[in-house]
Amino acid sequence: MYKIAVIPGDGTGPEVVAEGLKVLKAASEKFNFKFETKAFDFGGERYLKTGKTLEDADIEELKKYSAIYLGAIGHPDVKPGILETGILLKLRFALDQYINLRPVRLYDERFCPVKDKLPKDVDFVVVRENSEGLYKGMGEFKDKGTKDEVALQISYNTRIGVERCIRYAFDYCRARNKRKTLALCGKTNVLTYAWDLWERTFNEVAKEYTDIKTEYAHVDATTMWFVKNPEWFDVIVTDNMFGDIITDLGAMIQGGMGIAAGGNINPKGVSMFEPIGGSAPKYTGKNVINPLAAICAVSMMLAQLGEAKAAESVENSVIKVVRENLKTLGAGKMGYSTEEVGDLVARSL
Ligand code: IPM
Ligand code: MN
Repeated sequence: MYKIAVIPGDGTGPEVVAEGLKVLKAASEKFNFKFETKAFDFGGERYLKTGKTLEDADIEELKKYSAIYLGAIGHPDVKPGILETGILLKLRFALDQYINLRPVRLYDERFCPVKDKLPKDVDFVVVRENSEGLYKGMGEFKDKGTKDEVALQISYNTRIGVERCIRYAFDYCRARNKRKTLALCGKTNVLTYAWDLWERTFNEVAKEYTDIKTEYAHVDATTMWFVKNPEWFDVIVTDNMFGDIITDLGAMIQGGMGIAAGGNINPKGVSMFEPIGGSAPKYTGKNVINPLAAICAVSMMLAQLGEAKAAESVENSVIKVVRENLKTLGAGKMGYSTEEVGDLVARSL
């Protein structure tokens, strides 16, 4: 019995999560596993009412679950930063979800904004470090508010943190068993402390994975190649900030935020799965948002829970609906409502 903590969250989060759970139910019937859900109301509305983001007791409670399924966090009436750091980042850090896994896979060539790219050309995975780097929140102001003000924002990289991420990426690349090529995406030519550690660790760990080919690309060049030659990539490993940036570009070449999902993974703990598109306030309550990203997040959750067949089957159903039904992947332009898209995937499954 899988215990799934559900955080529908803000904006369109609840709508897409409902469709994801619909598909999860269909998958459980087909593949004979059981699950129960419990909903948690963390998010902007609750913050506006109570001033609370996420308490330590909430974290302890969430540790009891098999996985967390998250819709979206972000509210137009809450100052940017509060919910992000108070809920999303707090969960990632407190549950030590040190991997942010972001598959970039184009399901139908109609939806790639890059000319002449086919599904076989856009099929890679970004392994983003999710617990350190610039996201650690280290830094300080000097002489704040004066003309001599200085703001420091420190990228914090530990050997242990970097190595566990790199090892995960090598293992993932091996298990994925496609082109068996792992690219380190960094900035060794300028950021000579952090990326020296990353590169040394990468090269050392690589010696244990002689079946995996390794490559290196600077982050700026990586964004160029995402557009020009996405077919060069199989698995990419990078730090938290670069991973944040390149995965939004990745989402675009796979067809947009309507389809992009991610997993915040603690391989030995509680992982959290989410559509990466955000709360999309302007579409809230209209039954027009694309739930496929949230459904893809369910597929990733199933894979992490060990339900490989169910995970693959959910993804294949998404592919079928994308190819055979949808007009576009954008909100309001799919040719179907949010609920109808969920029904299509569940039925196809
Ligand atoms: C993401 C988001 C978050 C991040 C924000 C909302 C804090 O952009 O999941 O990529 O920067 O990691
Ligand atoms: Mn981001």
